[in-house]
Amino acid sequence: MRRLSFASRAPSNIALIKYMGKTESALNLPENASLSMTLDALSTWVEATPSVGSEVRWIPELPRVPEIERVGAGAAFAAPKLEGKGVERLARHVERARTQAREVFARFGLEFDADAASRGLELRSANSFPAASGIASSASAFAAITTVAAHSCARDPDAFLRALDDVDFRRALARISRQGSGSSCRSFEGPFVYWEGEEARALETGMPALAHFVLLISSEEKKTSSSAAHLQIKSSPLWPARLQHLGERTARMTAALAAGRVSDVARLAWTEAWEMHSLFHTAEPPFSYWQPGTVAALQWLAPFFESNSTIEPPIATLDAGPNVHLIVRASDRELWRARISERFPELKVLEDQPGAGAIARVRSLA
Ligand code: PMV
Repeated sequence: MRRLSFASRAPSNIALIKYMGKTESALNLPENASLSMTLDALSTWVEATPSVGSEVRWIPELPRVPEIERVGAGAAFAAPKLEGKGVERLARHVERARTQAREVFARFGLEFDADAASRGLELRSANSFPAASGIASSASAFAAITTVAAHSCARDPDAFLRALDDVDFRRALARISRQGSGSSCRSFEGPFVYWEGEEARALETGMPALAHFVLLISSEEKKTSSSAAHLQIKSSPLWPARLQHLGERTARMTAALAAGRVSDVARLAWTEAWEMHSLFHTAEPPFSYWQPGTVAALQWLAPFFESNSTIEPPIATLDAGPNVHLIVRASDRELWRARISERFPELKVLEDQPGAGAIARVRSLA
């Protein structure tokens, strides 16, 4: 029998309208629609190799894919540290993905190999960025895991690769992925993805070519997980108001993206990031992801948003972490790189660009 190895590289994504708060915890259904930009180099590779038995095992080694040798966005790919609970969550998701793949395959005319689906899997994974630093490693990891888990159930692995060109097939995988990690459902398409309820889909936009920077203020593990944050923000007195006005901000953001109005996108994203962190800061009990470096970066950025600024503001945002993401016109990449390094010469900065979502590979092992 041919021994195959399945690999997927999925990018992270950065939300401009945040997913924060769930209506349904078990299924990761969001309280509000969110909108993100899919990244490219900031990504996770996962390799799945069928093994004897039925166990899903996580091997703390780099995936064996030739591309892994290439350095990611300012950082080499490195295997994450994963322990007890993390491994369990991953194994549970593999199980879920393989179970749900059967119905998805039937809809898309792919043959489901029940024997292959019950075989054990060895998983190896690597991130091109530090885990748990607010660069959403769970989004890229779960998108890649969903893809390899489903791929490993295909009677014809090449037919699976062809199916991945169909945007509806990607959306079906994204639905499965969402149940493992909500924001991962936005990592199957790009560059701009709108997620509402069960469906994530790419948006047509008039945005120019863009460049992305992460001011890496800290790569330490965060103290409050995003799962905890999704629950705790509902105790903030600001929460009811957010639910009321967010639809309008999201509609304005969608319109600004469609028209390619960078400055409007920047202003809306800036308010949105502050609002999400204000929820954190006003929850009972309050919590914060900010560090002194975060405050310094926000203070540096604020004048670009003032009405008398002559410089177009960057699209600046933060996820549930201390690091600050900047998205600027690709034509201004050098300019912003220079501005950042002039103001923060000590800071490590990751660089990326918009991307198109998860990819998959299959190869024969000797
Ligand atoms: O997918 P989760 O449960 O890790 O939630 C991620 C939430 C944020 O990153 C803070 C915002 C977002 O929309 O990505």
